[in-house]
Amino acid sequence: MTRSDTRATMRRFTPVFVQLASQFPNCATGAFYYSRFCIYDWPMGFATTAIHSGQDPDQSTGAVTVPIYQTSTYAQDGLGKHKGYEYARTQNPTRSALEQNLAALEGARFGYAFASGMAAIDATLRLVKAGEHVVVSDNTYGGTFRLFTKVLANYNLEFDFVDTSEGLNVEAAIKPNTKMVFVETPTNPVMIVTDLREVAEIAHRAGARVVCDNTFMSPYLQRPLEFGVDIVVHSTTKYLNGHSDGIGGAVLLNNEEDAAWIGFIQNSAGAILSPFDSWLVMRGTKTLALRMEQHDKSGRAVAAFLEEHPKIRKIYYPGSASHPQHALAKRQQHGFGGMVAFDVGSLEAARVVLESVKLCTLAESLGGVETLISHPATMTHASVDIEKRARLGITDGLVRVSVGLEDTDDIIADLDQALNNI
Ligand SMILES: Cc1ncc(COP(=O)(O)O)c(C=O)c1O
Repeated sequence: MTRSDTRATMRRFTPVFVQLASQFPNCATGAFYYSRFCIYDWPMGFATTAIHSGQDPDQSTGAVTVPIYQTSTYAQDGLGKHKGYEYARTQNPTRSALEQNLAALEGARFGYAFASGMAAIDATLRLVKAGEHVVVSDNTYGGTFRLFTKVLANYNLEFDFVDTSEGLNVEAAIKPNTKMVFVETPTNPVMIVTDLREVAEIAHRAGARVVCDNTFMSPYLQRPLEFGVDIVVHSTTKYLNGHSDGIGGAVLLNNEEDAAWIGFIQNSAGAILSPFDSWLVMRGTKTLALRMEQHDKSGRAVAAFLEEHPKIRKIYYPGSASHPQHALAKRQQHGFGGMVAFDVGSLEAARVVLESVKLCTLAESLGGVETLISHPATMTHASVDIEKRARLGITDGLVRVSVGLEDTDDIIADLDQALNNI
């Protein structure tokens, strides 16, 4: 079969794959992605895209891995004559390769890589002007809440935080000056799921853009642009890098005008991702499909174990049948990922667990190969007011686990011995 025969066959069967994927989101992931990606002249699967998009062998040497262009500037042939690269804040080939790679994975036309997830979110908020209003998921990452309420609010940007898992709340919060709805799904750390299609429809009726922080899922498990979301942001620090060895962020989008402004901000404010960190994230995305499969598999096993454990009062995991948005998570995501949170009832009990784990590492962050365990109330969400934390369920007894890639039985054995110390 020639490539064009393959392409024609794939086109014919695309609706079947899409239909299958919507019926069986977890087992039809491969078919779904197979029907979506097309980086050469025939459709590619997710893993192929991750390994090849933006990453052709180096033209001058044939190096199969994109080189780290560790340079601040580029020699020019004459006045106004250059090879498309003038100064490394503006363009860097390693960063461009990553940006192309991440855009392909999210199904976006444009990608921009930033020095951190927060820098990516900050740049995205530059699409909103003084006097305009943003509706935000009320259980968003603490750093996002801090940026919006303690920094951007000083520049006359208006924010309202609502439970975006209820479309009615989003609708009620919309004002004549609302220009953006910013959602995180599932939220950090209590795993509330928002219906992206519903929120996109509400926001678009009001003429507002929708931004989704897709850090917790990664594009392997959730692709917000397919539900009508306009802009995806990531902390690449987490699953996209996946090895806990670099801080970074990304903005992925389709609208040309908004993309031009994000690119302008990236160059003007200069919070760019370095060539080495760009290379590390590209190294990470090459194994994203495999890693996410295993995070998801171990996440399910750890959640099932925790759900039955007598020392646990409550578990927060969208894969659990008892989760209020379990059906939505099954429909919208291609798995549940490796994030699980649970409540052991008090700060003392949480301290016992956090200080008696042996394999799990007590640390902020998530999405790396190693299992990390943390205490949101005093770590990631310390900047959220105490009353708001209580309302959201971020109690002193809440513990969050980022299930890593160690043997599943070892992770469970460690959590078991720590919990039995309570
Ligand atoms: C969901 C989410 N978004 C954004 C960020 C911020 O990313 P970074 O630490 O790379 O600035 C984090 C960090 O933990 C996060 O969990």
